[in-house]
Amino acid sequence: MPEVYDAHSGEDILVQVQNLTKTFGSGAEKLYALDDVSFSIRRGETFGLVGESGCGKTTCGRVIVRLLQPDGGSVRFEGQDIHRLRGQESKNYTRKVQMIFQDPYASLNPRMTIGDIIKEGMRIHRMGSEAEITDRMHELLEQVGLNREHASRFPYEFSGGQRQRAGIARALAVNPSFLVCDEPISALDVSIQAQIVNLLRSLQKQLNITSLFIAHDLSMVRYISDRVAVMYLGRIVESAEAEELYSSAVHPYTRALLSAIPEPQVQDREVCENSILQGDVPSPIGRAQGCSFAPRCPYATPACFSHIPVQETVSPGHTVACHRWKELLENDYGKNDPNCFFCDVRQEAGVNLNRVRNKNSVRFPK
Ligand SMILES: Nc1ncnc2c1ncn2[C@@H]1O[C@H](COP(=O)(O)OP(=O)(O)OP(=O)(O)O)[C@@H](O)[C@H]1O
Ligand code: SF4
Ligand SMILES: [Mg+2]
Repeated sequence: MPEVYDAHSGEDILVQVQNLTKTFGSGAEKLYALDDVSFSIRRGETFGLVGESGCGKTTCGRVIVRLLQPDGGSVRFEGQDIHRLRGQESKNYTRKVQMIFQDPYASLNPRMTIGDIIKEGMRIHRMGSEAEITDRMHELLEQVGLNREHASRFPYEFSGGQRQRAGIARALAVNPSFLVCDEPISALDVSIQAQIVNLLRSLQKQLNITSLFIAHDLSMVRYISDRVAVMYLGRIVESAEAEELYSSAVHPYTRALLSAIPEPQVQDREVCENSILQGDVPSPIGRAQGCSFAPRCPYATPACFSHIPVQETVSPGHTVACHRWKELLENDYGKNDPNCFFCDVRQEAGVNLNRVRNKNSVRFPK
């Protein structure tokens, strides 16, 4: 297996996404689904990609599995540009990289039995005789918590959770080394979500599969990911080790997403009104001249609307794209500033920092 050793970081990089851009439409209606997106995924890790609906997560996953062609930038897998692969190398890539989709029903052919769906990839890649492929299919059904009797059923004869298990078995059938999991649990009942996430986690560890785990729920991404990148309107705004991101998020958008997590341990921490996400994601049509979060950011200044922030290093492995991150951090996001007029929250004992107060035109004091 070719190793891609990054001499700078000393890491074994399996997937490298560089300056990826993907647009839809043209002229004034041009939509930037991905706008200069870069990140790398180390061999063996689970990399979480998180953000609100419409920020470009699925588009990113689809470009990586080559269901979409990018407008610019590149995706390298084991050092090779995946959109330039031809012949056998291209076929090998389609085997090594598999995707688990958001909607398990729409992603399974309704006219095929689950057994045939799981066997399809193995047949295409000639992974043994028909008897061997059938044995492997039965093995996979059991591995994902189904049983061999399920092989003759059609997708509509399964529950949502069972269908997603079948989708996982199909993805695993061809022994992939990299999985793109696109919100694999968002269409499922809460009670089933934990089962599927636990199944994915144990299979990834057992089979040593690297994965990109896409979700809009930060708490789920934390549970499953080693590192996390936060996306907003087609751009990565912050990335870090999962624990670092949860304990020391710097970008106002990440902090707002964290404040929205309905977990007791997260709710208990100090959350002032400026950490609460206001309004909806703006239209992605046209390219923001400045920071794409500026229209919703309580700390935005005129410069934020005119200059795109570049990725800066907060600490090793932790990057952020925000013009004001240092200043905001020093001021504890306005909480300790005696002149702060948008938030008079103080660090005094007994003050309820969770309160949500009336918001007028809030701006960080200059
Ligand atoms: N084939 C397409 N044609 C036109 N626009 C598209 C197409 N696919 C995606 N888009 C647009 O690109 C943007 C990003 O879409 P994408 O599906 O990647 O978002 P997402 O982050 O996966 O959202 P969700 O969490 O709702 O799945 C959206 O504005 C979407 O409408
Ligand atoms: S660059 Fe400006 S608008 Fe963007 S997140 Fe930072 S402070 Fe807010
Ligand atoms: Mg999506």
